[in-house]
Amino acid sequence: MPTTSLIVPHGGALIDRVLHGQAREEALARAHGIPRITLTEVGLADLELIATGVFSPLTGFLGRADYERVVAEARLADGTLWPIPITLPVSEAEASQLREGEPVALYAPNGRLVGLLELRERYAANPAREAADVYRTTDPAHPGVARLYAQGPVLLGGDIWLIDRLASPFPALHLTPAESRRAFAERGWRTVVGFQTRNPVHRAHEYIQKAALELVDGLFLHPLVGATKDDDLPAEVRVRSYEVLLQGYYPATRTLLAVFPAAMRYAGPREALLHAIARQNYGCTHFIVGRDHAGVGSYYGTYDAQRIFDTLRPEDLAITPLRFEHTFYCRTCAGVASSRTCPHEPSHHLTLSGTKVRELLRSGEAPPPEFTRPEVARVLIEALQAA
Ligand code: ADX
Repeated sequence: MPTTSLIVPHGGALIDRVLHGQAREEALARAHGIPRITLTEVGLADLELIATGVFSPLTGFLGRADYERVVAEARLADGTLWPIPITLPVSEAEASQLREGEPVALYAPNGRLVGLLELRERYAANPAREAADVYRTTDPAHPGVARLYAQGPVLLGGDIWLIDRLASPFPALHLTPAESRRAFAERGWRTVVGFQTRNPVHRAHEYIQKAALELVDGLFLHPLVGATKDDDLPAEVRVRSYEVLLQGYYPATRTLLAVFPAAMRYAGPREALLHAIARQNYGCTHFIVGRDHAGVGSYYGTYDAQRIFDTLRPEDLAITPLRFEHTFYCRTCAGVASSRTCPHEPSHHLTLSGTKVRELLRSGEAPPPEFTRPEVARVLIEALQAA
């Protein structure tokens, strides 16, 4: 294999808690006849992300000391940067059937046994504090806060094991951090920029991705495919939009498309840190943070998610954020630009709201090609008209 100096995983080592062979057989045997809980879609995603090392250095769902410090200071109890609590909430009734120090079988929403939790402690969640500190709002209309308020009041802390890799709707694109690191090494990439997205790809995205690719060896396009709010487009449509774009407009030897099987939390700045940490674990050396990264509505300032990186100590994070200002198509420049590169008034710029774009697509009309490539518009029109 070609040599490459890959970036260190967050916390120092890539976590692997996926069971194989004899250990897996033993876990399967152990899981029968012990208390069980059924995970939500988000819990199942977190289980996989912990087990496959995406959330390194976490080895399980947070216990109380970690939870409290993560909420208040975006750090684990040992001081490691960790911006969002990864917790396992259950109801009082479920919690009362479990015993600390004993294993719990974890089931997927479809009824399949997927993992084990070595239950260390049960403790009360503090949703109001978590909302205020992590989401910077206690408004129940915020989709991440709404999810938080709807979840069970007791949190289960302890290490986990994943019994099998989960079936993926995108098997060919579903790489673990160990696999993406291998893929980068095989391509000889020494520097790789990660791109998080939960939206179909527009020209502004393409512009910042390609601007970043001018500076590094490889581009890791990494759309999030876990739970999103109802009005975000389905993951398969967003992934398809990338596939058609890659065929026509990206150099195959310098681009890798894979999926990020995490749930969206819409936590703006704190989530931008989580997204960066995860991409560091996947092997990226750089990470794109544009305007209102992981934001929703008007809860966060346009560049809050960039500013949070300025508050870190040098030892907190190895991956380098690449900050991009709001970009748009400028008719006079005849290209995509930003306020850093374009001297013209906003009246020269082509700006279309998400709602307007959706209206156009729903009526079968493609947005201007300066905004969305026609190949991508076709994918989106088909999807919206079929819905
Ligand atoms: S996100 O919730 O995953 O951040 P989205 O898919 O819209 O949402 O954005 C993906 C990345 O592109 C984020 O880093 C975001 O800040 C950036 N981005 C999106 N649109 C623009 C734009 N017009 N100008 C600059 N950055 C942008």
